[in-house]
Amino acid sequence: MRQLVYTKTGSYDVLQVQEVPDLTPNKDELLIQVKASGLNFADILARKGQYPDGPKTPCVMGYEVSGIVTEVGSEIDKSWIGKEVIGLCRFKGQAEQVVLKEKQVYEKPASLSFEEAASIPVTYLTAWALLVAMGGLQKEESVLIHNAGGGVGLAQLDIAKHIGATTYGTASERKHGFLKERGLDHPIDYRNKDWYDELMKLTGKRGVELITDPLGGDEWKKSYRALRATGRLGMFGISVASINSSGGLRAKYELIKTVLKMPTFKPLSLLDKNRGVYGVNLGHLWHESDKAALWMKAILDGVETGWVRPHVDKTFTLEEAGEAHRYIEERRNIGKVVLVVK
Ligand SMILES: NC(=O)c1ccc[n+]([C@@H]2O[C@H](COP(=O)([O-])OP(=O)(O)OC[C@H]3O[C@@H](n4cnc5c(N)ncnc54)[C@H](OP(=O)(O)O)[C@@H]3O)[C@@H](O)[C@H]2O)c1
Repeated sequence: MRQLVYTKTGSYDVLQVQEVPDLTPNKDELLIQVKASGLNFADILARKGQYPDGPKTPCVMGYEVSGIVTEVGSEIDKSWIGKEVIGLCRFKGQAEQVVLKEKQVYEKPASLSFEEAASIPVTYLTAWALLVAMGGLQKEESVLIHNAGGGVGLAQLDIAKHIGATTYGTASERKHGFLKERGLDHPIDYRNKDWYDELMKLTGKRGVELITDPLGGDEWKKSYRALRATGRLGMFGISVASINSSGGLRAKYELIKTVLKMPTFKPLSLLDKNRGVYGVNLGHLWHESDKAALWMKAILDGVETGWVRPHVDKTFTLEEAGEAHRYIEERRNIGKVVLVVK
């Protein structure tokens, strides 16, 4: 079978498709022939050597797949064979085959294409953790979704609209029309204007009750300042570290710079200001698979009722993975980029 190998950290040429022996499931595993595999910002950071959670190179990345179960281990019910499924993997998903434990596999809703199905797990589970499980977003509240036009951004928008909250979102201006169509109440062009000033204008200087921030560095300070009383800041990424580098020492320098600019939060100040801060890292929730299963059930129910609307912007083959990385880094995607296995 073929897999996409991140041979070392660096630019797009470090990504190579390599042939390896077919996989065999262990007694408690399912073998999935992969049809589509979600590409995530973590894969970009890993390629550049900016992702502390990533495996050592050479490695195969890929947190999520869709495909068909073709073989199962002796402890797994044979009725799985032939089923179309969605799988969450701890890497190795960008390949023709993956083996997964049963609790990492969900039946694919028939209404979804394989590409749409592969774009659900990371984006919607992260969004659910941010807005529902930890953010506690309420109907009468307002939320600022940073990077609203990305995969996680659009998933958050679906959830916030479902809750009924008022939505603000930062995104490149050319993405605003699409975001409005998807229901975003107030798009903010954060690349040409100061989003803080814009948000304050829009909210009569009050700010919002919830901000989800994947930018990191000193952006977290600004987001904290923009909270209204009872407001919460959910931190979940450091995409500012990715600007200005394609790998190597420069990438490490940008990462350190981003970490040094992060805020420190003081308990007494949180108390006096009636504010809360929290972090989300989906990759550190593997030991809580029961929670993920509950969230996934709510999300897949949302597919059936129609409020979960995964949006695939563009697909690339495994061989085109470098172009796919470039496409995301050039900020051309609205929603998800997916690798298809042909
Ligand atoms: N903690 C977790 O568990 C978790 C899980 C998933 C994702 N994340 C994080 O969430 C963030 C978004 O992930 P995603 O999968 O939604 O990404 P995505 O689909 O690639 O979208 C990211 C969007 O962010 C904007 N952006 C900001 N800084 C950027 C940069 N340096 N390079 C390229 N685009 C940049 C771009 O929108 P504009 O054109 O509008 O600027 C881009 O379209 C990333 O930081 C990722 O690491 C965290």
